[in-house]
Amino acid sequence: MSEKNGMESLDRLKKEFTETEKVILSRRSVRQFKKEQVPEFMVKRILEAGRFAPSAGNYQPWRFIVLRDPDMMNGITDTVVASCRIFSAMTDYRRKGYGWLRPLIKFITRFRYNDLHPMPFMAIPLMADGKLDLWHGAPTVIIILKDIRGAGNPDLDCGIAGQNMVLAAHSMGLGTCWVGFAKIALDMHPKWKKRLGISYPYKFANSLAIGWTRGNPDGMVTRQTRAVDWFENGTLQTVTLGGNSSKSRFGFLDRFRIPSYNDPEQTEFGIVEIDLEKCSGCGLCAGACAANALDIVDKKPRMKKAPENGCAFCGDCVAICSVGAITMKKPYRFKGFYKTIDQGENSPPRL
Ligand SMILES: Cc1cc2nc3c(=O)[nH]c(=O)nc-3n(C[C@H](O)[C@H](O)[C@H](O)COP(=O)(O)O)c2cc1C
Repeated sequence: MSEKNGMESLDRLKKEFTETEKVILSRRSVRQFKKEQVPEFMVKRILEAGRFAPSAGNYQPWRFIVLRDPDMMNGITDTVVASCRIFSAMTDYRRKGYGWLRPLIKFITRFRYNDLHPMPFMAIPLMADGKLDLWHGAPTVIIILKDIRGAGNPDLDCGIAGQNMVLAAHSMGLGTCWVGFAKIALDMHPKWKKRLGISYPYKFANSLAIGWTRGNPDGMVTRQTRAVDWFENGTLQTVTLGGNSSKSRFGFLDRFRIPSYNDPEQTEFGIVEIDLEKCSGCGLCAGACAANALDIVDKKPRMKKAPENGCAFCGDCVAICSVGAITMKKPYRFKGFYKTIDQGENSPPRL
């Protein structure tokens, strides 16, 4: 490339996102799919994108399973729903009359802090009540298995392979959603592990729901900025991209305080604002919301109030709204152990 052409392309870069960046930035998790199946050649191309992912030591510690059998998908979903019912009955202290469970569950959360994070804790009862579908009716699912003997961190390698597949699918006009909840059946339930041939050295890593989307769920939304400390020439020059410096904002005692998920003071979920005048009443926003945070009242969406609202502030409802009736107002904030740190202003993708 000549120097002049190089400068021109740098100038263009300053003014617009590349095609790859657009695919990355406009991807949203999709939770409303058409029944129509994805052509086989497209699924194979998506798998190729996974195969070419980087991995520690190039060990490629993954195996992919394609699931397009509605009976099996329904069976796995039933297992997950049944397990969520049991789990929810044993842990959900937010129910009336179950406050006595709270200290016990908060104690257990100390040790299972990823599994009992407020987000899955809110989602499990939704799954149990059939308000959150496992694979959201997608006709194709790719299950990513990790080879636990992989070099370094096989989960990370599988995540990279999975995101390669997600972005490839998105670039082809398909919708995708990561679905970690399938773990409940595919990692914990011998019947499904046997049926799918999941055995040593493979373990469930994650799964991807893939299909043609209903409505247009893609779009760039706002997201919180995070602190980036930038060291150059021997000094910390700037903290760019928003947020606060990452240093010492998490108090020592915060480590020990698990917030109560039914106390809006301690566990404050996201808030979106709905312009009911603009709203066309299509209802796609409520279907796009994994947290079931939007009720439809008189054909119009309304945000649930705490503690029922479990909004993850992902912006999927904003992106899918074709008339621009929804705006993002306030991200979720947790106190104590899950305190949200390093978080700056909410901003759209910036050049
Ligand atoms: C590892 C992983 C697991 C996820 N599991 C689920 C899931 O089980 N169900 C679901 O509806 N969404 C799931 N998601 C999607 C997230 O909710 C979503 O990525 C997040 O809210 C941000 O929204 P966005 O993907 O539209 O940007 C998962 C995402 C990741 C990365």
